[in-house]
Amino acid sequence: MDINEPNALLPTPLGCLEVLSNISNSSLIRFSLILPTYNEGMNIQKVIAVLTELLDGILPEAYELIVVDDDSPDQTWKLAQALLPDYPQLQVMRRVAEKGLSTAVIRGWQVARGEILGVIDADLQHPPEVLLSLWQQMQRGADLAVASRNADGGGVSEWSLIRRFLSRGAQMLGLLILPEVISRLSDPMSGYFMIRRSAIANRRLSPVGYKILIEAVARGRFPWISEVGYVFQERRAGESKVTWKQYVEYIQHLLRLRLFLSARFIQFCLVGFSGVFVDMGFLYLLSDPTTLHLPLTRSKIIAAELAIINNFLWNDFWTFGDISRRQPGKRQRLKRLIKFNLICLAGLTINVVILNLLFNVLGLNRYLANLIAIALVTVWNFWFNLKLSWRVTDVGN
Ligand code: GDD
Ligand code: MN
Repeated sequence: MDINEPNALLPTPLGCLEVLSNISNSSLIRFSLILPTYNEGMNIQKVIAVLTELLDGILPEAYELIVVDDDSPDQTWKLAQALLPDYPQLQVMRRVAEKGLSTAVIRGWQVARGEILGVIDADLQHPPEVLLSLWQQMQRGADLAVASRNADGGGVSEWSLIRRFLSRGAQMLGLLILPEVISRLSDPMSGYFMIRRSAIANRRLSPVGYKILIEAVARGRFPWISEVGYVFQERRAGESKVTWKQYVEYIQHLLRLRLFLSARFIQFCLVGFSGVFVDMGFLYLLSDPTTLHLPLTRSKIIAAELAIINNFLWNDFWTFGDISRRQPGKRQRLKRLIKFNLICLAGLTINVVILNLLFNVLGLNRYLANLIAIALVTVWNFWFNLKLSWRVTDVGN
């Protein structure tokens, strides 16, 4: 179909779920709002009319509404397509090959031209006028503005006790598995928000299920997050698509993000483990009566230093390889090595102190005490090397 034809549908992007940063200046507009739909035939006309009136008021001709429909059996896409002649800011995508709420939103953002990207449910459960407050927050400089049921002025309308309990339970679980993300949001389940394109641009997204906001916050850069309270309205037409499956997917999603955010730490631990073998090997070569038979302390110091150098090299090329490549040159590498050395030596001192505290003061078993000391010092080593040696300021990086 010709793309310039007035009633043409948007093409469906394929490939990885990544929003581009550099779209040509001539096509850039201020705001793109995605409406994911599945069987919203009874709501689509009303929601488009209400949103158009509202946005025409604040952003005349500088916004677009993008309906992303997953080939709904009720033909929501077709009903939306029929609205195209009357709503010049409206565009419609019909997805056939792919399904799911989160990916629908990302596919919409991928074709969007807005500098600011947003999402809203198409069933009118998200009060449209809240868009004005969200927009205001973005204009003040926020990187993300979230409509929240748990912020001032927010709430739910007629929810049963069990539904409230399930919703809070899901949030608690998120807090346990993914604290650094979930604790930044009073309503991490929200599907009503605006983000700056630059905050998620060129990051590969890989969500499971419904919770697109958690995905964005875990993988993007958001120094400034702002919230606006809203009351989640009852559905007046159509029905919710939430089943037990969404709960399973939610947990799957949390675990996937946990692994993603812990990847560096896991690499760092593996490198540390390799260092144990280097240390042991050289201790044997240097001090064993059948080999060089050097004094024990001297051998241990050399073996430990070699292990530190081994760990440094692996971390510099692998664990923090992406960052090292941005700080090239021998001088820079030497600087990182010296810092790494000092931090690890400080870690060794802390190791001895903790071991003594746990063993002598608290009376713990010495091997258990040593294990705890090693675990704590690994975290110390990781954190300070991350922040000082490789100078990562944004952990999501
Ligand atoms: N394209 C597409 N594909 N859209 C979908 C799909 C899908 O598989 N599943 C649901 N949608 C659309 C719906 O048509 C609706 O516009 C929106 O996504 C939300 O779906 P609902 O099924 O109405 O969800 P809900 O009201 O129970 O749950 C909402 O709860 C949160 C409360 O804060 C979620 O949608 C969140 O977005 C919302 O914020
Ligand atoms: Mn809904």
